[in-house]
Amino acid sequence: MAGRHPTHFPCNPWKARMDDTRADERPHRDQRRRLPILGPVSPPSDRDTAGRGGAPEGMRPTEADRAVASRHPREAGPLEGVGSVVAVSSGKGGVGKSTISTNLAAAWAQMGHRVGLLDADIYGPDIPTMFGAFDRPRMVGDQVQPLEGHGVKLMSLGFLVDEDTPAIWRGPIIMGIVRQFLQQVAWGELDYLIVDLPPGTGDAQLSLCQLVHVSGAVMVTTPQDVAVGGVLKGIRMFQKLDVPVVGIVENMRGFVCPTCESSHDIFGSGGGEKLAAALDVPFLGAIPLGVAVREEGDRGVPTVIGRPDSPEGLAFQRMAEAAAERLRQLEPEHA
Ligand SMILES: Nc1ncnc2c1ncn2[C@@H]1O[C@H](COP(=O)(O)OP(=O)(O)O)[C@@H](O)[C@H]1O
Ligand SMILES: [Mg+2]
Repeated sequence: MAGRHPTHFPCNPWKARMDDTRADERPHRDQRRRLPILGPVSPPSDRDTAGRGGAPEGMRPTEADRAVASRHPREAGPLEGVGSVVAVSSGKGGVGKSTISTNLAAAWAQMGHRVGLLDADIYGPDIPTMFGAFDRPRMVGDQVQPLEGHGVKLMSLGFLVDEDTPAIWRGPIIMGIVRQFLQQVAWGELDYLIVDLPPGTGDAQLSLCQLVHVSGAVMVTTPQDVAVGGVLKGIRMFQKLDVPVVGIVENMRGFVCPTCESSHDIFGSGGGEKLAAALDVPFLGAIPLGVAVREEGDRGVPTVIGRPDSPEGLAFQRMAEAAAERLRQLEPEHA
């Protein structure tokens, strides 16, 4: 049945669902616009900052950042109190990194682990929306207290800056932000700190790996060639940085029409799994494309919590178990 209706569905599930998401059901978005920023926004006064959107005070690069910027990631030390720092990365945007990070974090928390989620996608911080968390974090001393959602400790630039403010920051500023999020957030004792990264192979990836020992990277792709090609570059980057690949997740594989139950491979099928086999890295599983997954993301309820027994919920749980197992093999001392 797959591919039988390549451009035309016998029904149109999207329209009705899109109409469902009315603005009055999303009051939290307006609430977030009113969030005060933590500390003043600096004017774009040095050449690290271009245009509007200067970095919040304290996130500017320090001398120490400049020293870190020149070291190899294998020299980076552990983050105190944290068992494993786990990056979630991809070649392209929109393939589901934040959705995977959210469900991985919530699934691990449900399994009894102590979990934090750092939203390092400074260009598009979506974790507040996906957890329905919009309060302003509190400062205690010089430490920022993370918010908590679904048993996961959370920190995101989205808690601190207006969602309409564009982030126009160069590398050193990005390192300053990642450093502060690692070192000046009161994460406490954690088994896992998941880091949701921006797409690509840029400053956030490199800064993270230079600032702290990263136990492994979960690579997210959709099945089609353009996404798989991008994730391959990401994997090559982590290999160059001596950061092991935890495995590849193939997101949005197969869509089952909720009305007629026919199956469509909208973005193809198997691209991520084939890449994992070709590179001899673990395949952590395929997540189906489901309208409800998107709705849950917008509503702030991770699928593993809202619909744990759905095909997508079960796929997310299997992925979380596979990733935990692989991390135990990579670093048995943290098992
Ligand atoms: N398996 C899925 N089924 C349906 N929608 C999904 C799925 N995975 C992600 N999405 C939706 O696709 C969009 C992009 O996902 P997101 O996690 O924000 O990607 P990224 O972080 O890589 O940019 C979001 O609206 C999200 O809810
Ligand atoms: Mg994202």
